[in-house]
Amino acid sequence: MNGYGLLSFGTCLVGERGLRNLEPEAATVRENGDTPCFVSDPNTEIALSACYGKMRFMKTWNAASVTATKGVTRLACVTAYDYASARLADAAGLPLLLVGDSLGMTVLGYDSTLPVTLDQMLHHTAAVARAARDAMVVADMPFLSYQVCEAEAIRNAGRFLQEAGADAVKLEGGAFRAGLVGALTRNGIPVLGHIGLTPQSVNQLGGYKVQGKSREAGERLVADARALAEAGAFAIVLECTPPDIAATITASVPVPVIGVGAGPVCDGQMLVMHDLLGLSEGRPPRFVKAYAALAETMSLAFRTYAEEVRDGVFPAREHCYAPRTPGPA
Ligand code: KIV
Repeated sequence: MNGYGLLSFGTCLVGERGLRNLEPEAATVRENGDTPCFVSDPNTEIALSACYGKMRFMKTWNAASVTATKGVTRLACVTAYDYASARLADAAGLPLLLVGDSLGMTVLGYDSTLPVTLDQMLHHTAAVARAARDAMVVADMPFLSYQVCEAEAIRNAGRFLQEAGADAVKLEGGAFRAGLVGALTRNGIPVLGHIGLTPQSVNQLGGYKVQGKSREAGERLVADARALAEAGAFAIVLECTPPDIAATITASVPVPVIGVGAGPVCDGQMLVMHDLLGLSEGRPPRFVKAYAALAETMSLAFRTYAEEVRDGVFPAREHCYAPRTPGPA
């Protein structure tokens, strides 16, 4: 796909653009540089060139298409914080890139997500959004950017879409956040819910612990997930729960449940990119699988580079520009 992912979700996306009577088979898409347009029906073409000619079509992955995967396919989601790695994740076909406030630890070196600011999140979200041609970009709303009041939360969430190019926001909390989730979605801001272990509440939870272990706590999580889905969340992240409660939650809501440390019976999985790539500091949590050992690869590269500079091996001839051609003195 190329960022103009209309064909595969033709009817639905055209419908969202308000052209409900347009049948995909009655129209073909012409990609015209940056301006795709429909061409088979002259009247439609006029309408589109007048109203939609300059619009960039939706990516394949957006709130609606992610929700539509429920029961159809499993979503492999990853966090992303910068342009270079987001570009690779997007090109690999990962559907959802979460600019997690985990960047406080993975990228900025804090010991929790609490110090992360709205400006830092906007900065990193914009870098990821510039890279994501087809993946949906979800920006994590940092601590205190949505808790104070609804108006402030809407304004801050809107900045992620308007200034940073995100496609949606994520916020932590269950049933007690349903009102805010409803307000955001009614205002055109798709929301990814987040329940279970919610790291912004680490001080309240007494540490990074598995959640929903007792029957009552499990039932509360089911109620939280239902409340978020009813309020309009397009999907829900479920972090660090026993797999059986994750399975119950997955079966209880009509939107995808994306597990992180929640076992296999979810509609998708999320991993922190640094964990997935073997780049994290210290021992990763039990639920992590590293698909590469980049810390070792990078350390070796740094050591070898230092050695070669010391030994005069680098730069070699092939790294040098051509010598000056002798000219008149
Ligand atoms: O901040 C983050 O990376 C997250 C994911 C682990 C879900 O919230």
